[in-house]
Amino acid sequence: MKLLLVGSGGREHALAWALAASPLCDALYCAPGNAGIAQVAECVAIAADDIAGIVGFATEQAIDFVVVGPEAPLVAGLVDALDEAGIKSFGPRKAAAALEGSKGFMKDFCARHNIPTAAYGRFTDIAQAKDFVARQGAPIVVKADGLAAGKGVVVAMTEAEALDAIDMMMGDKAFGAAGAELVIEEFMEGEEASFFALADGETAIPFGDAQDHKRVGDGDTGPNTGGMGAYSPAPIVDKALAARIMAEIIHPTVAGMKAEGTPFTGVLYAGLMITSAGPRLIEYNVRFGDPECQVLMMRLKSDLMPALLATADRQLGHFDLRWHDRPALCVVMASAGYPGSYAKGTEIKGLDALPDTAERVIFHAGTARDEAGRLLAIGGRVLGVTALGADIAAAQEKAYAAIDRIDWAEGFCRRDIGWRALKK
Ligand code: AMP
Ligand code: GLY
Repeated sequence: MKLLLVGSGGREHALAWALAASPLCDALYCAPGNAGIAQVAECVAIAADDIAGIVGFATEQAIDFVVVGPEAPLVAGLVDALDEAGIKSFGPRKAAAALEGSKGFMKDFCARHNIPTAAYGRFTDIAQAKDFVARQGAPIVVKADGLAAGKGVVVAMTEAEALDAIDMMMGDKAFGAAGAELVIEEFMEGEEASFFALADGETAIPFGDAQDHKRVGDGDTGPNTGGMGAYSPAPIVDKALAARIMAEIIHPTVAGMKAEGTPFTGVLYAGLMITSAGPRLIEYNVRFGDPECQVLMMRLKSDLMPALLATADRQLGHFDLRWHDRPALCVVMASAGYPGSYAKGTEIKGLDALPDTAERVIFHAGTARDEAGRLLAIGGRVLGVTALGADIAAAQEKAYAAIDRIDWAEGFCRRDIGWRALKK
């Protein structure tokens, strides 16, 4: 099969790595890709959100199957456009991608289908939003309705912080149209976990769990990022809890979306709070997590391609997956300054001496090569050093041993990825 992967991050490098290894893959293209993806795929200079460009390329090249990595093109309707052009793909259509694209939609949907999540209100008026905060008190959580690249959530420990967040999102329009509507919700307490399931519109099967580290600094301090590291499995998600998550959250979601005429096809990524009362949904994403995808791909023993095809072909009913028992851990290296401003074009050396093995892969995110072949950092998150180990401690040791051999003065990473699992 001729495959086209859409995206350019560490998640997409992990997907490209798994797809390229499939016996079903004859040719792999990636739009637009990065320097790491270029090792296993032919990168084409089409932006991930250029829907017409992607459909045009897929048509010209007679692509058999398109795998969409990031949320923006899904929410913008890439899968709908590919369907119209008769091209098979992995990912939800626009109406189902609203589970991530609109937090208000997601909350109302959960209310209609009794899916456990935080109590909430939806607001398009600043005064009413502030009045709600005054009545509810703090802690309270303020969220921009639309996509805001992971930055549209403020967990306010005081009323003043919540009021500031409302002014920032609605008054100053910090996230543009994404903040024209807000969801303000109950603060939930517990431990967070990410749970993944493949859904074919009717049937859902678990696709692993993980925990990530969103804060930039050691000890989970400093501002939120896209994710500075992850490990899988999540020790908190035992068999009984996984069964509850499927029964109380994933299956009702898939059934509800089908009943409403917007069946969900693709990967459902549930961000969960494991509270004393059980699992509750924080948010839905309609794509793989980044860097959670990196650890999932290293743990996946089965060929990824048949799983994605079965999802697109509504064949998950009798599908089975094999996983390595051993955990995987990913440490993200980022450009100094991230998630704030950072220098672009700094050189990374030392990767040639660290060839990928079945036990350790260095996935690329924001990388490019210059004409001389030098590897440059061109993004915030740049590398995802991922390792399998006998246990989390062994995987962590292997990842940091590789990081210590990477020569990149302008890069940094957290030194404590996996701490919560190790404490257990
Ligand atoms: P999100 O972008 O929705 O994943 O939110 C970012 C982070 O904010 C989550 O990973 C949680 O740590 C936190 N968060 C979001 N909603 C809540 C909530 N209702 N209660 C407590 N923490 C939350
Ligand atoms: N690691 C968080 C995300 O992919 O949204």
